[in-house]
This record gives sequence, C-alpha cells and structure tokens, in this order.
Amino acid sequence: MPVKVAPGTRFQNAWQSSSWEREMDRTLVVHVLVLLALTGLGVATARAAEPEGERRAELVRMVRQDCGSCHGMTLKGGLGPALLPEALAGKPTDSLVATVMDGRPGTPMPGWSRFVSEAEAAWIVERLLSGFPAVQVGGGS
Ligand code: HEC
Repeated sequence: MPVKVAPGTRFQNAWQSSSWEREMDRTLVVHVLVLLALTGLGVATARAAEPEGERRAELVRMVRQDCGSCHGMTLKGGLGPALLPEALAGKPTDSLVATVMDGRPGTPMPGWSRFVSEAEAAWIVERLLSGFPAVQVGGGS
C-alpha cells in the first residue's frame, strides 16, 4: 500500500466531485428545458392575455347582446346597473373582473367563466371602464 490516507478519502472525493459535476450537468439541462418551456408558456400567456381579431369581435357582440339583455344594449342599465365608464368609475377592477367571472350570488348577475377566460373578462372590464366599443368596430384598439 503506497501512502496511508484515511480510508477512501481521495477516492471518495474524486467520486463525489465527478458525480457532483454530472449532477450539475443534469441540473443545467433541466434548467434550460424549464426555461425554454417557461419562455414558450410566456409567449402563449401573453397571447392569451389580449384577445385579438375575431375573438374581440365576438366578445364585443357578446357584451352588447348577452350582457346587454340585462344591462341594456347601450349599457345604460336595465335589470342590471349601467356598465358605462361613469357608472363603474372608482370600482376596483379586480372585483369587477370577479363579478364577470363568478357572477353575484343572490342577484340575477350570472358568472361567465364558462364562456370567457379570466384574461378576456379583464379585457371586457378594461373596455367597459374606458368606453365599450361598438359592435361594428370589432373590438377597437
Ligand atoms: C341576467 C341578467 C344579467 C346578465 C345577462 C348580465 N348581468 Fe351583469 N349584473 C346583473 C345584475 C342584476 C347586477 C347587479 C348585481 C348586484 O346587485 O350586485 C350585475 C352586475 C354586474 C357588474 C357589476 C357592476 C357594478 O357596478 O358593480 C358587472 C361589471 C357586470 N354585471 C358585468 C356583466 C357582463 C360583462 C355581462 C356579460 C358578460 C353581464 N354582466 C351579464 C345582471 C346581469
């Protein structure tokens, strides 16, 4: 036996370091994959956040017709209260979005989460707060 070292020390360090490196390689690969996946998701989410084109036009029609059946075609109110910017001014956006998604239990206001995504509900509320576009415009800016 050449040099007396504590049994297994050098061998074990070498083994540990190479296994650590292998572990790091694997971790790096996983991180890169996760990052790639997140980047893809981010792009998808950004796209989902703002309804576009035909979907905007659909949402505008839906609000004017379906919501309009209670809130009035011009959103000035009917069975439901007015949804014009003046009427909604100062109300917290989050709770308005929640109202659109979940409705108001105990009132005729139904929830719309089966028909619109949270992002679309947020888009509708934003538009209501700033003046809802006419149907022909197809969603505005
Ligand atoms: C069946 C009738 C009905 C329909 C359809 C309807 N609502 Fe309502 N909505 C109501 C009523 C009634 C209220 C008032 C609830 C209350 O008393 O708090 C209300 C409340 C709201 C509020 C809260 C207003 C405020 O001042 O706090 C928003 C926002 C709203 N509705 C949006 C919508 C949107 C958007 C749609 C269509 C996607 C819709 N509603 C469809 C009846 C309706």
